[in-house]
Amino acid sequence: MPVIKAFDLAYGRLRAPDLDREEAFLTDFGMVRADRTKTALYMRGTDAPHHLHVTELGEPRYVGIAVHAASPEDLDRLSRVEGASAVETIDEPGGGKRVRLTDPDGYQVEVVHGMARLDPIPLARPAVNSGSDKFRRKGELFRVERGPSHIKRFGHFVIMSKNFEKTLAWYREMLGFRCSDEFYMGDKSNVVGSFNRLDRGEDYVDHHAFFCIRGDKSGLNHLSYEAADIDDVMVGHEHLQGKGYQHMWGIGRHLIGSQLFDYWADPWGRVHEHWADTDVLNALAPPNLIDRASGADGPWGQPIPPIFRGHASP
Ligand SMILES: [Fe+2]
Repeated sequence: MPVIKAFDLAYGRLRAPDLDREEAFLTDFGMVRADRTKTALYMRGTDAPHHLHVTELGEPRYVGIAVHAASPEDLDRLSRVEGASAVETIDEPGGGKRVRLTDPDGYQVEVVHGMARLDPIPLARPAVNSGSDKFRRKGELFRVERGPSHIKRFGHFVIMSKNFEKTLAWYREMLGFRCSDEFYMGDKSNVVGSFNRLDRGEDYVDHHAFFCIRGDKSGLNHLSYEAADIDDVMVGHEHLQGKGYQHMWGIGRHLIGSQLFDYWADPWGRVHEHWADTDVLNALAPPNLIDRASGADGPWGQPIPPIFRGHASP
């Protein structure tokens, strides 16, 4: 049994030497400022959580991730794990309580509870017709504006680890992640990537909240945010392109998880993904072990480019 079953992802925490530049990027990426202090930037999406991205002022670094606990009792339980902090009051915008842990590669994992929720930001999106269902938008015109995507929520985080087995086992044990799919190369015991989802019992959740990659270095591969829908990813792509940001991979449709995806780097090379339309599974779905040599490309889209393969931000 894991120590807890995390209820949801909360936010990614980075460091950057220029909060104005990071805020400009994240705004162009489709987030909205929730708060900003002299030393940190808090960005939100259209959903209710107070923020889903934190940037602290400092030398560029991936600090870690945060997840929401289902209950205050879960924080108590985690605080008794060796090396964990006590239950702390969060002295930051959004408030709440937390326990801080350190993963096997030295990155911080915050487990939070009671963070403020804001009014969701209303967003009207047109229905999309298909050949077999062409009247979803009866009498209405498809009109969306050019500009940034509309980030809805924090969907998943991806880390590379040189301590792959240990790191994967640690996240599963602490946070209750459940295996969806794994890739192996050569021998079946040589797992090179593991997709894991939240465990909410019979409730359906995204195919993965946590993807762990075997690597010769450790760090953040990417933070991934759900956009409003497929057109929202497309419009956001053109917006980021027009602003001259570094494109990393996309647009395409993943095989594993099935998301339509698009990846962009912030001014310090930290990769942020837009996606829409993922597979959802519940805890009853069994894990799969897949031969990496059988191909990992989705049905269409740009193959993974060298700039993205093996990427890890320390
Ligand atoms: Fe992703």
